[in-house]
Amino acid sequence: MIIQKKGPLKGSMSVPGDKSISHRAIMLGALSEGITEVENFLMGDDCLSTISCFKHLGIPIDFVSNNNSVTIHGKGLDGLRTPSVQLDVGNSGTTMRLLSGILCGQKFSSTITGDSSIRMRPMGRILTPLEQMGADIKSVNNNLKAPLIINSSDKASLLGIDSNDFLRGIHYQSPVASAQVKSCVLLAGLYADKETKVTEPAISRNHTELMLSAFGASVNVVGNTASLLPRPKLTGQRLSIPGDISSAAYFISAALIVPNSELLIKNVGINPTRDGIIRVCRMMGADISLENIRKDGGEPVADILVRHSNLKGIEISGSIIPTLIDEIPIIAVISCFAKGKTTIKNAEELKVKESNRIELIVNNLSTMGADIRATDDGMVIEGGRPLHGAVIDSKMDHRIAMAFTIAGLAADGDTQILNPECVNISYPDFFKSL
Ligand code: S3P
Repeated sequence: MIIQKKGPLKGSMSVPGDKSISHRAIMLGALSEGITEVENFLMGDDCLSTISCFKHLGIPIDFVSNNNSVTIHGKGLDGLRTPSVQLDVGNSGTTMRLLSGILCGQKFSSTITGDSSIRMRPMGRILTPLEQMGADIKSVNNNLKAPLIINSSDKASLLGIDSNDFLRGIHYQSPVASAQVKSCVLLAGLYADKETKVTEPAISRNHTELMLSAFGASVNVVGNTASLLPRPKLTGQRLSIPGDISSAAYFISAALIVPNSELLIKNVGINPTRDGIIRVCRMMGADISLENIRKDGGEPVADILVRHSNLKGIEISGSIIPTLIDEIPIIAVISCFAKGKTTIKNAEELKVKESNRIELIVNNLSTMGADIRATDDGMVIEGGRPLHGAVIDSKMDHRIAMAFTIAGLAADGDTQILNPECVNISYPDFFKSL
């Protein structure tokens, strides 16, 4: 894919449904009684992996990809059946970690694996709490990575608890602010003998907590601690998924850095655990307004109006990081167009995403002529140096491919994105929309 400098972006658009919420809709729909109907589901490869896993677990799921609607025929908390194959999550960390929590609560054994990127990512972060809950879950290669094998051996009698309460409720103090870890533990907690609590160092995205409540579970959140009572009766729902702010971020950024742009991005989720990109852009001096703010399916939604702006460098660190973790590649790009220094700290999690994003952002932006250096937990960018086109290796990381496409729109000369098809993970129509 070749990208060239382009005139202003103008008009109005919408982005596909939120990836995190789409995964959770399939999972909770499957564990509910009755039918769950989902509108504006994200038909990206990651969410299709979640659908495929739940089909192998015996859940009928119908979808019409041209209108993004999905119907899940839920079978209740104990309705999943033994899969006849290894469950394959593809590239999806959310499927891997959340589904592992659910599988630990089942009375059958299973194996879960994924692509080469997933098999490099740390799973010790979920093995630790799941083992504390009494689950028999192991890394097949003994390296704290996927594939994972979950044995259903008679855990209840080993734990000395009722055979219907498969796991032990715990209060887990998570060392990382990770919604995937928190959600894994809470979903395992559906099958526990008593309340399950997770405390995290900073609040990560809360879609699991919101959706569990909407389906009828008893969830309580106080500060950085979320708790769940076990064995709720979950009931199928009608859901409409808001546009993904992580996908909108590329277009917000494009409008900010391409002169004379003015773009209205409609129906975007602005959940405060996800809206760090908007707060950061505003701190950098961006002209962004939120219009038509409303609630849809328990999630706050708005239309985002953004105009080209003169940006200034800032420091981005602390509790805002989990609210924009997936947007750091594109934030690094816009920082190159800001006046002065931008410092990103406390973002070491970037090293264990779909790629080592600190390394890929810094290497690729350096190739384009940026003044940028990596630090242990982030990066420092001196803005204002013009970028020039280059060959960008996305290493099959969708967010790197999209962020550098936007960089290419405002760089001199041609930018070539290698393996551009990886955008299918979260935004199959990205190039068409652009
Ligand atoms: C996600 C949580 C985040 C995020 C990922 C989606 C989720 O990961 O980076 O893209 O849906 O829960 P961590 O929880 O590992 O930070």
